[in-house]
Amino acid sequence: MARKKITVVGAGNVGATTAQRLAEKELGDVILMDIVQDMPQGKALDILESAPIYGYDSMVSGTNGYEETRGSDIVVITSGVARKPGMSRDDLLKTNAGIVKGVVENVVKTSPDAILIVVSNPLDAMTYVAYKVSHFPKHRVIGMAGVLDAARFRAFLALELRVSVENIHAFVLGGHGDTMVPLTRYTTIAGVSVEELIPKGRLEAIVKRTRDGGAEIVNLLKTGSAFYAPSAAVAEMAESILKDKRKILPCAVLCEGEYSINGLFVGVPVKLGGKGIEQIFEVKLNGEEAAALKRSAEAVKTLCEQVDKLL
Ligand code: NAI
Ligand code: 2OP
Repeated sequence: MARKKITVVGAGNVGATTAQRLAEKELGDVILMDIVQDMPQGKALDILESAPIYGYDSMVSGTNGYEETRGSDIVVITSGVARKPGMSRDDLLKTNAGIVKGVVENVVKTSPDAILIVVSNPLDAMTYVAYKVSHFPKHRVIGMAGVLDAARFRAFLALELRVSVENIHAFVLGGHGDTMVPLTRYTTIAGVSVEELIPKGRLEAIVKRTRDGGAEIVNLLKTGSAFYAPSAAVAEMAESILKDKRKILPCAVLCEGEYSINGLFVGVPVKLGGKGIEQIFEVKLNGEEAAALKRSAEAVKTLCEQVDKLL
C-alpha cells in the first residue's frame, strides 16, 4: 500500500511540531518546507533521528522548494508571521495574505488534488485566501481553529471539574478570534450539559479564558504564539482525513447558507473524512447564540473584504 504524503509548509514552531506529531502517528511520509535555507532540512533530520526510539517508519524530509512536495495528499499551511504581545491575529492580515497566496499558487501546481489545512492567522481570512487562490472545491479547503479552541475549553473544564478530558465534549462555533462562540448549552461532561454542573459565573469565566486562550499563551511566551496544542489539533484533523475516520470536528469551512452565513469561512461542526469535508452539521441555536455567531461572522466578513482588496 502506497504511503500517504503530507506536506507542512512553514517549519517554524507550529509547522515543525506538526511534522513531528504526524510522523509519530505514522500517518504518512512528511515533507517540511520553508524558505529559510537548511532549517527545514535540519528539523526534518532531527525528527527522523527520533524514529528508532519512538518506533515509527514515516520518512521525514525537509526542503526549500515545491518539487519534493509533488503529489501530496494533504498540505498543511503554517507559513507566516505569528503574534507578539499586544498584537491581535488581525494585525497579521496583510503580511500573511501575501505569504499564503504565494504558497497556495505553488501548491496548486504541484499537488492539485491535495486537501489544504490552513493554520496561518487570521485563520478564517487566510482560509478564504487559500480557497480563492486555489480554486479548489470547498470540501478540500479547511481551516484549523475550532479543534484548538475546543481543546482549550475542554482542558479548562477538566481542570475545573477534576475529571478526565476524555469525558468532555466541547462545542465552539464562529471565527478564530475574540468573537468565537463557545456554546455551553451543547458542551457536555459524560453527556450532561456543563450548564447543569458549573455555576453561571464560573462558566462565564471559563468561556472568557477560552476566548482569550491564544493571547494568554502569547503573553507568557513573549516571542511567539502557541504551538503544542495547535499542532495536536492539526494532527487530529489529518488523521480523521487520512484514516477516513469521519470525526465530527469544528473546522473553518465555506458556509453557503448554513447557519445563515453566506460565502464566508467560519468555524462550524463538520464530518471530516477521506474526501475532506463530507458534511456540515447544523444544530439549533437560540436567539442569543445565533446573535453571537452573526457577530462573529461579521468580524470575519470585515477581514475578507480587506483580503478581496489585497488579492
Ligand atoms: P513561526 O514564526 O514559528 O513559523 C512561521 C514559519 O513560516 C517560519 O519558519 C517562516 O520562515 C515560514 N515562512 C514565512 N514565509 C514563508 C513562505 N513564503 N514559504 C514557506 N515558509 C514561510 O510561527 P508559528 O508559531 O509556527 O505560527 C505560524 C502561523 O500559524 C502564524 O500565522 C500563527 O499566527 C498561526 N497560528 C494559528 C493557529 C490557529 O489556531 N489557526 C494557532 C497557532 C498559530
Ligand atoms: C492561538 O490561538 C495564535 O491563533 C493562535 O494560539
